[in-house]
Amino acid sequence: MILITGGAGYIGSHAAVELLENGYDIVILDSLVNGSLEAILRIKELTGKEFEFYHADLMDIEQLENIFRRHDIKAVMHFAGLKSVNESVSTPLHYYEKNISGTLNLCKIMSQFNVRELVFSSSATVYQPSDNRPVDEDSPLGATNPYGRTKLMIEEILHDLYKSDPFWKIAILRYFNPIGAHISGRIGEDPTGSPNNLMPYITQVAIGRRPLLQVFGEDYDTPDGTGIRDYIHVTDLVKGHLKALEYLAGHSGIETFNLGTGKGYSVLELIKAFTLASAVNIPYQVVDRRDGDIAVCYASPEKAKKRLLWKAEKNLLEMCEDAWRWQSMNPHGYSGNEAEIEIIA
Ligand code: NAD
Ligand code: WQD
Repeated sequence: MILITGGAGYIGSHAAVELLENGYDIVILDSLVNGSLEAILRIKELTGKEFEFYHADLMDIEQLENIFRRHDIKAVMHFAGLKSVNESVSTPLHYYEKNISGTLNLCKIMSQFNVRELVFSSSATVYQPSDNRPVDEDSPLGATNPYGRTKLMIEEILHDLYKSDPFWKIAILRYFNPIGAHISGRIGEDPTGSPNNLMPYITQVAIGRRPLLQVFGEDYDTPDGTGIRDYIHVTDLVKGHLKALEYLAGHSGIETFNLGTGKGYSVLELIKAFTLASAVNIPYQVVDRRDGDIAVCYASPEKAKKRLLWKAEKNLLEMCEDAWRWQSMNPHGYSGNEAEIEIIA
């Protein structure tokens, strides 16, 4: 049995489908602070499989204990956390509290129940901004905002935990820029409020929820002047998690892996690919650079390729097609489709 924390969110819901389709039993916990019950229902509908969902917060240690007591959990995929860079700048204490204490509670309960296999969602944001590229796992670290620092601190905590008890098996996965959706169009990214990230903004412009996209700067030192990132299809990303889980079964220790494609695309290239995929024109306006942004960031995914035997397969057009299928089938995301299912509290 695999426990998925944050399984009602964007990446966790895709991981749940992938795990169920590969024969794993799962249990999901999510506080629904940024996730949706409808996603839980759709995971069941897509896979035809049943599992238990707990409306539970990682801050509530009794609820955690209850889940571990009721299920024979072998490993945890830990997605639950707050992820907005902007929000983390305005409410740093909230971010440190939720992300760090939540992870501490989870690890304490795992130790208590002798569960020592953990796959943790980290981020490329832990790397120090630099002109050296591609970014490999040994590149200098240094996050530039509270959200990124919570990821970095959790990584350090996990290293200390492993040092204290070498029976732990931990995979730290540093995601680059996950986009796209399940090929069915039934689950996808559903940001609350105005999207911070590029792809959900584009899809909301395409569906008519927002008038135009703002392109943050065209004076970067890149071929077309706009920022370059390593966009990775969410399905490829979650396949990397299954590979990490298989890897942990055979290796004790703590290992860090970049999950990216190794290719960078600019903002204008992404807009162009999206237009090709959707046949919808995306009006945009170039504005000033966004604070804290860097020109170029893409991964070296070589370590994951060699050690996890994993590589991203889907190209930019497929990422755009799947993102558009999700948004056009669900113009308002999950809202309006709120699920009514039994919640175990
Ligand atoms: P998301 O917000 O869609 O999903 C996170 C889920 O965790 C949500 O459903 C939320 O309700 C839940 N959650 C948050 N705090 C919780 C708590 N204390 N207890 C229980 N549940 C809680 O985000 P996502 O995009 O799916 O990201 C998943 C993980 O991957 C996060 O840890 C995020 O920081 C990390 N990550 C995301 C990206 C990205 O671009 N999406 C990139 C790098 C890393
Ligand atoms: C991509 C490019 C923007 C929005 C963020 C987090 C990072 C990680 C992934 C969690 C950049 C440009 C964006 C818009 C734009 N998340 N852009 N107009 O900044 O690489 O990373 O998400 O761990 O922590 O910081 O991704 O999608 O926000 O931006 O022009 O409305 O699109 O300037 O060049 P980013 P993004």
